[in-house]
Amino acid sequence: MISWTEDGGVVTLTMDDPDAGANTMNEAYLTAMAATVERLQVERDQLRGVIVTSAKKTFFAGGNLHLIAQARPENAAEVFETVEEAKCQLRILETLGLPVVAAINGAALGGGLEIALACHHRIVADDERIELGVPEVTLGLLPGGGGVTRTVRMLGLQDALTKVLLQGQRMKPSRALSTGIVDEIVPAGELLTRARAWIDAYDGDAKQPWDRDGYKIPGGTPSSPKLAAFLPAFPANLRKQLKGAPYPAPKAIMSAAVEGSQVDFATASRIESRCFVSLATGQIAKNMINAFFFELQAINAGASRPAGVPAYSARKVGVLGAGMMGAGIAYVCAKVGIEVVLKDVSLEAAENGKAYSEKLLAKQVGKGRTTPEQAAELLGRITPAADPNDLAGCDLVIEAVFESEELKQKVFAEIAGVVEPDALLCSNTSTLPITSLAEGIDRPDDFLGMHFFSPVDRMPLVELIVGAKTSDRALAKAYDLVRQIRKTPIVVNDSRGFFTSRVFGTLVMEGAALVGEGVHPVTIERAATQIGFPAPPLAMLDEVTLTLPQKIRDAARAAGDSAGAFDEHPGMAVTDRLVAEFDRRGKAAGAGFYEYPADGPKHLWPGLVEHFGGTAEVPFTDLQERMTFAMALETVKCLDEGVLRSVADANIGSIFGIGFPPLYGGALQYVNQYAGGLPGFVARARELAAAYGERFTPPALLVRKAEAGETF
Ligand code: NAI
Repeated sequence: MISWTEDGGVVTLTMDDPDAGANTMNEAYLTAMAATVERLQVERDQLRGVIVTSAKKTFFAGGNLHLIAQARPENAAEVFETVEEAKCQLRILETLGLPVVAAINGAALGGGLEIALACHHRIVADDERIELGVPEVTLGLLPGGGGVTRTVRMLGLQDALTKVLLQGQRMKPSRALSTGIVDEIVPAGELLTRARAWIDAYDGDAKQPWDRDGYKIPGGTPSSPKLAAFLPAFPANLRKQLKGAPYPAPKAIMSAAVEGSQVDFATASRIESRCFVSLATGQIAKNMINAFFFELQAINAGASRPAGVPAYSARKVGVLGAGMMGAGIAYVCAKVGIEVVLKDVSLEAAENGKAYSEKLLAKQVGKGRTTPEQAAELLGRITPAADPNDLAGCDLVIEAVFESEELKQKVFAEIAGVVEPDALLCSNTSTLPITSLAEGIDRPDDFLGMHFFSPVDRMPLVELIVGAKTSDRALAKAYDLVRQIRKTPIVVNDSRGFFTSRVFGTLVMEGAALVGEGVHPVTIERAATQIGFPAPPLAMLDEVTLTLPQKIRDAARAAGDSAGAFDEHPGMAVTDRLVAEFDRRGKAAGAGFYEYPADGPKHLWPGLVEHFGGTAEVPFTDLQERMTFAMALETVKCLDEGVLRSVADANIGSIFGIGFPPLYGGALQYVNQYAGGLPGFVARARELAAAYGERFTPPALLVRKAEAGETF
């Protein structure tokens, strides 16, 4: 696990877990590290220095999340001991009296960076693919392997909190250097020789700055005047950033950093361990690890990709429709090197679509994230077109014209004989059922829904919708394309509104229904953000436009089905009235639940209170749970009906596609972890149904699973 090679008194410790693709803080590592440190202590007098490096592509991948996911409050003492033991090894390394240098050959995230921070010098290979940082906060944790204690002592409280700890930034080497968490960037091939050269030239006491007499934390401690001005505002700023959502990790990081800065290293380190254990044994870290690590990894590794279909890589993509969505789709494809033909009704319209990429790239160049040459190369890959024949040679087509079944079928017919004979055909429709759309399309087996979210360049999810005739081959190719453009694919079976739009609809409609009941709109929006929704329902309904639910209802009625169409939903009366009586159609129209003044930020329309009332009293928890329960119950129905194919797709899709509060780990995990488990959730759903309507009645699948003692 850790090999030892000695040359002229310099030991190179190479971490290389034989049983895994990456090194992690598992039992084998802990045992190997303990033995290595013991040997270093014994042979110390014959040695001049130590290099720590890795034989893997990554330097060190971090803590063992499988173990953390099993940590329970009743094992807190045990977890504390394990954490302290791992930290003790690093502390011995750091205080051995030998200069220790980290030669960082690949990603050093979480525990990986914490190992490097315990070294006296950090050299990283000059490779922009390498990421460094402590992203624990994004999993509901804190860097408990010395990450808080050491970054505070290296950078000072303010920089450590804002630049490293609280947002868990992943930094490229150049940024890590300017932030101060690494000391040198060297050509990859010279990593070990430069590490050795540093030891050869070293002429110090091999102590960390914080172990020297008279050491003071840069920027001072909380009692120094500068920090005394900065710190009191910090918790309030943090609350504002989180919009009041109950994330425990940022608060715990803040306490560990502030308390730790006022005591000696050993005490600070114990405070950090204690804060870590309280997070690791809590429910929110489990929810977040489950979704953002295990489920995401499984989905991205191909859990829902049909097996046996050869890997596909798109070369030339035709995008039909250069509006908001088409322009974004063209950009994300060109960004990864795919040739794009962007077609609209006129060349001018197509060029307008390409101009969207120009705008995005100008911003990137301005921020130094892309070079002008890279930007020009990307733009060179997008060819605007008005003639369907320009799609010759395309092996994949993504359609994003207006939302009309007839028009969509027409544009596919136009390119039918033009593109490659086996080209994959995808529609970005957000509401039209794929199976009936396929009826008007040549080669329905090569056709499926590829539902992007707006704005395409920022939203990480793509929902793939399998129609009755979609082949496995088509699905696998679509899956590969989504991975090629570095997004996460969830796979669902056809249904009106698919999965994401159906569940999203239940949230925004619940918000509208509450307006109709006379609850103050500010209270509705606040209730949502305080339970963790990144965006509140009325603001989101304005984004998608108030006429969208009407269109879906009308289309569903015309087709004779009502699933997901909110035919009876009390929220419909509110959107109908806002559109018909007040011509308020949403953000694009400049007026919806919100006002959009040209000269200031948006604000809720005072007319809502005037026309619907604003004094109705609904308990705050009920407001919040009506939103989360509406979404969770619809998700269960999607699973029951076979629209959803997996629990992981439900959880990841609900967070990334619809903004379900990430701290609960997704809509089905929310049900699992609700107080009292599934039986508790069922009981509460029945209460909500009795008080607010049939739509909260728990579906049969949920009741069955609760009675059988199962979870999702
Ligand atoms: P948009 O109105 O911005 O763009 C549609 C474009 O299609 C226009 O530029 C129009 O000129 C072009 N077009 C019309 N007829 C055409 C033809 N015969 N050949 C080529 N181009 C033609 O609409 P948007 O928002 O980009 O939506 C496009 C599709 O994506 C719709 O099906 C919509 O439901 C779906 N969608 C929209 C989302 C959104 O947030 N706006 C999210 C996910 C899907």
